[in-house]
Amino acid sequence: MRTLIPTIISVLATRASAACTREFLTAITDELLAAQSAGQPTFPSLSSNVTYTENRKPASLISGILSTPLKIVHARSQHDTTQCATFSEFIITNASAPYVIATQLRLDNSSQVSQIDTIFTTNGDWAFNATGTYYWASKEKWDAIPGPQRDTRATIKAAADAYCDVFNDKSVTVPWGEPCARLEGGAYTGKMLPSDSCNVGVPSGVKLVNRRYVVDEVYGTVDVMLDFGGREGKVGMQGLPDSHEFRVEEGKLRFVHTLSSCGGRGACM
Ligand SMILES: *[C@@H]1O[C@H](CO)[C@@H](O)[C@H](O)[C@H]1NC(C)=O
Ligand SMILES: *[C@@H]1O[C@H](CO)[C@@H](O)[C@H](O)[C@H]1NC(C)=O
Ligand SMILES: *[C@@H]1O[C@H](CO)[C@@H](O)[C@H](O)[C@H]1NC(C)=O
Ligand SMILES: *[C@@H]1O[C@H](CO)[C@@H](O)[C@H](O)[C@H]1NC(C)=O
Repeated sequence: MRTLIPTIISVLATRASAACTREFLTAITDELLAAQSAGQPTFPSLSSNVTYTENRKPASLISGILSTPLKIVHARSQHDTTQCATFSEFIITNASAPYVIATQLRLDNSSQVSQIDTIFTTNGDWAFNATGTYYWASKEKWDAIPGPQRDTRATIKAAADAYCDVFNDKSVTVPWGEPCARLEGGAYTGKMLPSDSCNVGVPSGVKLVNRRYVVDEVYGTVDVMLDFGGREGKVGMQGLPDSHEFRVEEGKLRFVHTLSSCGGRGACM
């Protein structure tokens, strides 16, 4: 069994990645971008049986954010060929209706999008400032990492998990990189200096739970959707609907982008 199980896993992984190429997933995130720009809550690869959540709660695509046409000034998507999933970050700086949107898509075995999980933030959400998000996000370099320098999925995910865990457990060792900058809402911890550090304080006793990941090894990224200050197992029932996206280089954290929705939750910590 010891030798058989890894063999089976690697065969399955190979099959999944053969069916789910980066080119294919890129076409899907292009469809999502076009749909959001046009405000059409449908696109060619959407399954008729799609599960949709908005800010961690079951919702209707028809009345959701996707049905509002938005002028997107910044769009970056990441592609997970192993899980056949994608992540997109959209920034809308329209002063009358600004948004920052994080979306994970998951595909079924018929190569159709069967799950959409969106977190969106706007005025009133945690440190929200779409102009700031756009300003800082545009200055950062999230380009493809040359083959030999790429980290494994496990390394990228472990860096993200360490960061998420340290909010609750100060004994966790986080692979802090340098420089490193956190873009939280529209607030930036960095100064564009080589000495910029992300180790500039985190709250304690806060659980970041019910995590769902999209990993892209080519770009060293992982997006984690989670309940910030929530309770294990109770998705979206407690805490803030939250997206934490990480860029990891040589095993170390380089950039962190966060969105935390306070919508309908009263005081936002
Ligand atoms: C639709 O999706 C739900 C939830 O994923 C699943 O339980 C159900 O079997 C699906 N129905 C069809 C017709 O595929
Ligand atoms: C900006 O938002 C307002 C209010 O929703 C909307 O009427 C307007 O069309 C938007 N402008 C653009 C360029 O999307
Ligand atoms: C896809 O197919 C595999 C193998 O047949 C199966 O184990 C898996 O549950 C399927 N996944 C979905 C999302 O239907
Ligand atoms: C939002 O960010 C921009 C760009 O960094 C900054 O100029 C502006 O003062 C910020 N607005 C608020 C309300 O903090």
